[in-house]
Amino acid sequence: MGFATDAIHVGQEPDPATGAIIVPIYQTSTFVQEELGKHKGYEYARTSNPTRAALERNLAALESGRFGFAFASGMAAINVLMTLFKSGDHIIAGHNLYGGSFRLFENVLKDFGLAFSYADTTRLDDVTRALQPNTRLLFIETPTNPVMEITDLAAAARLAHAHGLLLAVDNTFMSPYFQRPLEYGADFVVHSTTKYLNGHSDGVGGAIVLNDPSLAERVRFIQNAAGAVLGPFDSWLVLRGVKTLAVRMRQHNENGVAIAAFLQGHPKITKVHYPGLPSHPQHELAKTQMTGFGGMLSFETGSLDNARTILNSVRLCSLAESLGGVETLISHPGTMTHASVPPEERERLGITEGLVRISVGIEDVEDLISDLKQALDRI
Ligand SMILES: Cc1ncc(COP(=O)(O)O)c(C=O)c1O
Repeated sequence: MGFATDAIHVGQEPDPATGAIIVPIYQTSTFVQEELGKHKGYEYARTSNPTRAALERNLAALESGRFGFAFASGMAAINVLMTLFKSGDHIIAGHNLYGGSFRLFENVLKDFGLAFSYADTTRLDDVTRALQPNTRLLFIETPTNPVMEITDLAAAARLAHAHGLLLAVDNTFMSPYFQRPLEYGADFVVHSTTKYLNGHSDGVGGAIVLNDPSLAERVRFIQNAAGAVLGPFDSWLVLRGVKTLAVRMRQHNENGVAIAAFLQGHPKITKVHYPGLPSHPQHELAKTQMTGFGGMLSFETGSLDNARTILNSVRLCSLAESLGGVETLISHPGTMTHASVPPEERERLGITEGLVRISVGIEDVEDLISDLKQALDRI
C-alpha cells in the first residue's frame, strides 16, 4: 500500500469490541484477567496499552521498520536509545545537534560513563577521525537544525557498519513522508512526534523505530523497565495527526519552496538555508535521499537588530520555539533554541546573530509571504 493509505489504516482496524472506526483512547491503567495467567494481551498499561500499540504499529510501518515504540517525548526516546549502551562505550554524534540532545549527552549521560565526540557528519572523514576502539553508535540529524546541512545516509550507514557501529538517525525534521533512513541502512530512527508526526502543536511525544528483533526486545524491555511511555490520549493525538501527514507534508513543502524562493530573491536577505534551493551546497544529495524538502528553513538578516525587527514585526507568523505544526513559527536560534551552544561554536556552525528560522506552516502561502514582506520592509 502507499504511504498515505498506511498512515490512515495500519494499526487502525475498526475497534473489535464496538466497530468504532477510530482507535479508542484506552484510558486505563490495568486490564482484568479472565483467570490466573489468561488475558487478552494486555496486563498493565506501562507495559502495553492498545492505543499506544496502534500508534507503535503505525509508526513502524511509516518508517519501513518492523518495530515501533512510543515515548513520553522525543528526549525520552533518545534517552532510551542511549541506555542500550553501557558505561565505557563511545558515541559519535553530529556537531550540529538539537540542543536538548547535546544537553542530555553532556550533562546527564556522561556522568553514567558514556563518552561522546562530535563530528561534522556531512564530511564522513571527520567521523572516521573521531572513531575509537570503543565506539558503538553514530547518531545523526539530517537535515540539521537550523542550517539544514545534509548527511549522506547510505554512506553514513556503510561507514558505521564497516566499523561495527550502529547508526541512529533523528528523522524529526523530514518525517517518514520525505525521508526513511532505515531504507538507507540506518539501524534506528528516532522522532520527536511533537513535531510533524503529531503536526498540530498539541502534544509532546517521541518514538524509536527499528528492524533488529534482539535490539527491539531490549528497547521493549527498557520501555517497560524505565517507563517513560506515551499516554493513551497523547498516543491518540499522534494517531490522529499521522492520518494527514502526507497531505500536510506536501503543503509544508510547497510553502517551504515558495518562501525560500521569496527570501532568496529579497534584496535584504544575504543567505537562505533550504535544501530545496539549487544554491544549497547539498541540493543534489538531498534529492537522492529525500522526496521533498519540507518546511524548515533559516535565513541571514545581517544583524541581531535586523533579526529582532523581523521577529517583532511579523503578525501572522508566531514567535515561538518548536516546529512541525500547521501554523507558521518563527524564531531566533542564537538566543532561543541554540542559546546553550557556546558563541564561538554557534559562529562556527553558521548560527549567527542575524539568523532567523522559520517552521513554515500550511496557511495560504501568499499570506505568509506578505507577512514576511511587511516585516522585512521595516529593516
Ligand atoms: C530534531 C529534534 N530532536 C529531538 C527533539 C526533542 O523532542 P521533544 O521536545 O519531543 O522531547 C527536538 C525538539 O525540538 C528536535 O527538534
